[in-house]
Amino acid sequence: MDDVFEPAASDTRAVFLRDVLNGLSKPQKSLPCQYFYDAAGSELFEQITELPEYYPTRTETAILNTHAGDMAEALGRDVLLVEYGAGASTKTRILLDALRELAGYVPIDVSEEFLLHTAQALRADYPELPVYPIVGDFMTRFGLPQDSQGQPVGFFPGSTIGNLNDDEIVQFMTAARALLGDQSQFLIGIDLRKDASILIPAYDDAAGVTAKFNLNLLTRINRELGADFDLGGFAHRAIWNDDASRIEMHLESLRMQSVHIGDRTVSFDAGETIHTENSRKFTIDSLLPLFEQTGWILKKNWLDEDRYFAVLLLSAT
Ligand code: AVJ
Repeated sequence: MDDVFEPAASDTRAVFLRDVLNGLSKPQKSLPCQYFYDAAGSELFEQITELPEYYPTRTETAILNTHAGDMAEALGRDVLLVEYGAGASTKTRILLDALRELAGYVPIDVSEEFLLHTAQALRADYPELPVYPIVGDFMTRFGLPQDSQGQPVGFFPGSTIGNLNDDEIVQFMTAARALLGDQSQFLIGIDLRKDASILIPAYDDAAGVTAKFNLNLLTRINRELGADFDLGGFAHRAIWNDDASRIEMHLESLRMQSVHIGDRTVSFDAGETIHTENSRKFTIDSLLPLFEQTGWILKKNWLDEDRYFAVLLLSAT
């Protein structure tokens, strides 16, 4: 595809294999959560966003719908909207509809198939809007598309920032500050701390979609790396870690078993888990030092009535 920017063609399969073997060699086995999003995983995540128990998407969408006018006014004209982890870009459309005289849209996503499909749909619905998709992991370094114009504004919805630890947030916000520049602003969605009785079902839904999403990671490893995970031998677990203020997703081995990946054998005890994701739940105050130390200052914020979720507007300092 000539209209898609892809970072240097490093061997993505070799990187995936290395990351998987690395994670499964640790005392607490783990897998990086960005690998959830192959085509099937991206589809499953879209299904998660529509579950009755999964409040974040619905809540953030309502905040955006209610305050899009305010947000557009604060962002100004001639915006080049740069979205980290664009997915289906459903929430983006709310902003695109509210913003005047947009200069362009740069969606970044690890799932190429999904990204191209989204870009195509946006081009059809916004024929005047230049769309510059970038395939890749937003934690790696990349530049703005050469022919893009306008005032860069970062958009990082969904509380995807909750997947990152403090060091990664600093790394990410520093890189975003350098990429977007001195005049830039950043709109970021964060999921707020709340009772575990609301959090746990959001990550362990009755229909079992989140379980499928979690287990799909093993299906992907089997398919792309020729491994032999027995899908029936692992179960989805969602745990609230109050001290770390995060939901943890794990895949629990239901019996003692061995799995072959490449030329390696990985052994599991019964009850041993693979830690597959952290989803941190924040207070706004706890994030401000991380933003300030990376060149950003909080300008405005919008919350829903229940204070489940917040959308923050940061300004470059
Ligand atoms: C896309 C990272 C924001 O943490 O809520 C949903 C991913 N994992 N259900 C989240 C997810 C399980 C989601 N983020």
